[in-house]
Amino acid sequence: MKRISILGSTGSIGLSTLSVAESFPERFQVIALAAGKNLETAFEQARRWKPRVISIAAEAHAETLSDRLKQAGLSEIEVVYGTAGTIRVATHPEADFVVSAIVGVGGLEATYAAVKAGKTLGIANKECLVAAGELITAEARKHGKPLLPIDSEHNAVHQCLRGGRMNEVERVWLTASGGPFLDTPSSQFHLITVAQALNHPTWKMGKRITIDSATLMNKGFEVIEACRLFELPPASISVLVHPQSTIHSMVEFVDGSILAQFSLTDMRLPILYALTYPERIQSDMRFHVNDLRHLDFRPPDMDKFPCLRLAYEAAEAGGAKTVALNAADEVAVAAFLEGSIHFDEIPGIIEDAVRASNTGALQSIAEVLEADAEARRYTRKRISKTLESRTTSV
Ligand SMILES: NC(=O)c1ccc[n+]([C@@H]2O[C@H](COP(=O)([O-])OP(=O)(O)OC[C@H]3O[C@@H](n4cnc5c(N)ncnc54)[C@H](OP(=O)(O)O)[C@@H]3O)[C@@H](O)[C@H]2O)c1
Repeated sequence: MKRISILGSTGSIGLSTLSVAESFPERFQVIALAAGKNLETAFEQARRWKPRVISIAAEAHAETLSDRLKQAGLSEIEVVYGTAGTIRVATHPEADFVVSAIVGVGGLEATYAAVKAGKTLGIANKECLVAAGELITAEARKHGKPLLPIDSEHNAVHQCLRGGRMNEVERVWLTASGGPFLDTPSSQFHLITVAQALNHPTWKMGKRITIDSATLMNKGFEVIEACRLFELPPASISVLVHPQSTIHSMVEFVDGSILAQFSLTDMRLPILYALTYPERIQSDMRFHVNDLRHLDFRPPDMDKFPCLRLAYEAAEAGGAKTVALNAADEVAVAAFLEGSIHFDEIPGIIEDAVRASNTGALQSIAEVLEADAEARRYTRKRISKTLESRTTSV
């Protein structure tokens, strides 16, 4: 029986993880859950899974949750909150596997605490790896624990890498669906609405990653994530647009052989792989090869999607630059989602924030969080200036 903690249990990955746990009750026990603002789902999950502990972001929500659990006869479930709460979930002594699926850098401290506590990590939260990947991987190495990618591309690479040694790898090919605007002329990007950007062609995901997929920043983050997870330089990682999202990624070896992983576009599969690694177990998520007709590929257009270029540049520069890239993106995407800025303004705002950020490696999570806060402050100011100039020109 594997005992699991889930950071971000109320989100898309969190729900898929619980769905996997539901399908294999003899294999997985849910020990601890961490939610953000979704009190109702957190309560239902606590009722269904009876974890030892549940965390919620706000203190006021924790009080309400605690009262409701008492009324439901579940007073033995410990209710915690805030960052300390997520850390409690990540390091619970009874948990041996932690799924890191909080969105953004808000999940960083808990994710790092989990690895530091010697837990095996199934990592979906790519922003943690973009901001502090070197610190997280170093800690996992120190404890001799694998970091198991849940992001479908990295999960695919992890699977392909089982076909050779690291020193035999020539190149990693990350596939990209291209997002909803693959064939939209960039002259129309100014008119893109939030609803259009949230309409991803192949995956159903949380809002931030869906917008990041539309700008291709998500793919840029994945390049950095791959550098960190597999200890490869950015130049060894290529992106290939593959609109069907059938092949999740590929590894090319020095002898010219290329191994590709393909399967259903269903996140429960990489989650199951991570949770059962190094075993593989029977599932009903079958891909019907007989129905396969097309596998299309084309190179990405970095002029049309500058976020991908920005990510490569930040990956080369490393340290504080990738922290700024993620922080600025998080702020810019939030501004787009609330209707303050246009879709085509996102890359320029991020580029300025990265340019304004410090260079150099960051030695601790505290330094990462400081660089993150600084980049957020810069980005908010930069957005305010954009909005002011718009008002003055009207
Ligand atoms: N969805 C996918 O298919 C997919 C694929 C690959 C990688 N990923 C990565 O996985 C991560 C999660 O993505 P998602 O699509 O599942 O996002 P999502 O649906 O937006 O879920 C985010 C989760 O984080 C929780 N959360 C947010 N802020 C929090 C805080 N301060 N404290 C505690 N919990 C907090 C949310 O709680 P509430 O909902 O309760 O507020 C929710 O449970 C992201 O890093 C994403 O890039 C996702």
